[in-house]
Amino acid sequence: MLNIGEIKGSMLLFGGPYSNLQATLAIRQEAEKRGIASDHIVCTGDVVAYCGDPEATVNLIRDWGIHVVMGNCEESLAQDADDCGCGFEEGTTCSLLSNNWYQFARNQLSNDSKQWMSSLPRSIDFHSVGYHIHCIHGGVSHINQFVFASTDKQLKAEQLAHAQADIIVAGHCGLPFGQQIGDKAWLNAGVIGMPANEGKESVWYMLLSPKGSELEVSWHRLQYDVVAAQHAMQGVGLSKQYCHALKSGLWPSLDVLPEKEQALTGVELNLVPLMLRRLTD
Ligand SMILES: [Fe+2]
Repeated sequence: MLNIGEIKGSMLLFGGPYSNLQATLAIRQEAEKRGIASDHIVCTGDVVAYCGDPEATVNLIRDWGIHVVMGNCEESLAQDADDCGCGFEEGTTCSLLSNNWYQFARNQLSNDSKQWMSSLPRSIDFHSVGYHIHCIHGGVSHINQFVFASTDKQLKAEQLAHAQADIIVAGHCGLPFGQQIGDKAWLNAGVIGMPANEGKESVWYMLLSPKGSELEVSWHRLQYDVVAAQHAMQGVGLSKQYCHALKSGLWPSLDVLPEKEQALTGVELNLVPLMLRRLTD
C-alpha cells in the first residue's frame, strides 16, 4: 500500500485504461485542461486489457507520472500468469474473449513494463478535508472482487470498516457509481478504456473537489478518438466484439453483471454529484 498524505485541491480519478491509447491520451489532455497535476491523479488499475496498444498505454501512463493502483490485469501480467485473473467463469463469453486480448498483451509487453506492474501498490490512501480515502482495484482484500451499485451495502460497510476508511474508491467492475453509507461512501470512478454499457461511446472519470469542509464527488463523460482506437484493435487482429463495443457502447457479454445492472443495458447513466459532509463536524 501507498499513502500519499494530505491532498489540497481537486483529485481526478479514473479506472481501466484497458490498452486504449486514444482514451488515455484524452484523459491526460482533460486533466491538463482542468489544471490537475499528475500527483493529484489516481488510476484504479487495469492499465492493460481489451484494446490494441498495451505497451504504448503503459508508457504513456508512466511518462505522465500519476499514481496507479495494481489491477488484476497488472498482477497477472507481472506474474506471467495464464489468464487475466478477472475471475470469469471458465467457458463463459467473458472468459473466451479475455483469452484473446490477454495473450496478445502478454506477448507484446516489454519485461520493463511487466516489472513496473509488479511494483504497483495494491492500495493508495490519501486525506482530503478530513476524509480518509482508500483507493483499490476490486475489493479491499480481493483484487478481482466485483462490487457493483447493486452489491449489498452491508458488504461495502464491512469493507470500509476493515480498511478504516471514510471513502473507498474502487475500479474493476467497469461501471461508475457512488453510494453514501452512513457518513461514509463507496465510489467507483468508472473506466476510460471501454464504455459503460449504456449505449454511448463516451467513457467516465471522477473528480473529488473540496468545497469548504465538504467534499463534492462528480462524474464526467470523456470523449476520445474511438475510430482510431478501433483501427488499433483491427490492426493487431483482436477479436471484433470489444472493438464493436467501443462504438456501440454496449458490452459483448453481460456474464459478470448482476441482474439489476443487466437490466440497465442501453440505459443512459445519470450520475448526480454527491456532496459528502462529515457528521462529526
Ligand atoms: Fe479488473
